[in-house]
Amino acid sequence: MSNVNDAIDILNEGGVIGLPTETVYGLGGDATNAKAIASIYAMKGRPHFNPLIVHGYSPVQLSRIVTFNEQAKLLARAFWPGPLTLVLPRQVDCQVDLLAGAGLPTLAVRIPSHPLALELLEKFQRPVVAPSANLSNHLSPTTKAMVSHDFPSLFVLDGRASVIGLESTIIGFDPIPTLLRPGGIPIEQIEEVLRYPLNYAQKGSIQAPGMLAKHYAPNHPLRLNAMEKHEGEVFLNFGPGFEGLSDLNLSPKGDIVEAASNLYAMIHSLDQLISAGIAVAPIPTHGLGLAINDRLKRAAS
Ligand code: TXA
Ligand code: MG
Repeated sequence: MSNVNDAIDILNEGGVIGLPTETVYGLGGDATNAKAIASIYAMKGRPHFNPLIVHGYSPVQLSRIVTFNEQAKLLARAFWPGPLTLVLPRQVDCQVDLLAGAGLPTLAVRIPSHPLALELLEKFQRPVVAPSANLSNHLSPTTKAMVSHDFPSLFVLDGRASVIGLESTIIGFDPIPTLLRPGGIPIEQIEEVLRYPLNYAQKGSIQAPGMLAKHYAPNHPLRLNAMEKHEGEVFLNFGPGFEGLSDLNLSPKGDIVEAASNLYAMIHSLDQLISAGIAVAPIPTHGLGLAINDRLKRAAS
């Protein structure tokens, strides 16, 4: 019990916890806190920002985050709480940070059925992002011990082993219900509720997240590795250099994790200004820097 309160303290401070769910254990963080989300990406050691799943405790809570269509409502009623994830458009005043969805206009949401996860989510009130709690290319963990293997110093909320042991089934709507990832809920059960066959490109195969993740495209042109500011441009800085040029700084002290947490928000706010374009200072390619540069290149092309 105090275990859950400890976990909530960590989440409130923008920290990351090991979160048991019925599918697999997750790396949980406050979905409204860009710094927490950036830390999760950094911990996973992924070269790309894969969009994350946002976890909640009730449909009412999640309907403040995304807009449900009729079929999504049917599926939510049938399978939540449980191993089903729905990809839906963000609400206008959605509090979830853009970094959680890697800048996409949609968010993946689900309500887990693990009692400890539900207790935590209800007490915390805010939505929680949680990718599987494994390093890239490692197995998804189904026990506390597996999580501690990949992340020895992480606080892991102590629940029983995951009963599903397989990630949630992901359904998107484009606009017809489409299988994006097979998982904890069999396709047949979903088709029974929908009363017609699901759309899928290749039955039983995982669609590459990188292909789904349409890049975040600002309205203004981006100029990367900029060392100076051209006429009319705004300058997105990184680190202590180029002081006189700086309009916004991803991380004045040159911290790459902080930079990732600011990336989408700062490009978004510079994009709102009238300018000839956005010049972006060089950003190192180590750690999350690779993902930042990857996203910037996509946004610039
Ligand atoms: O069972 C699960 O879903 C576990 C537990 C912890 O809840 N979580 C999980 O998260 O598997 P993760 O990050 O390992 O996988 C999330 C996948 C991404 O790879 C991505 O393909 C998809 O969800 N995804 C997330 N947001 C999306 C979006 N807006 N559009 C399309 N796909 C999305
Ligand atoms: Mg995973």
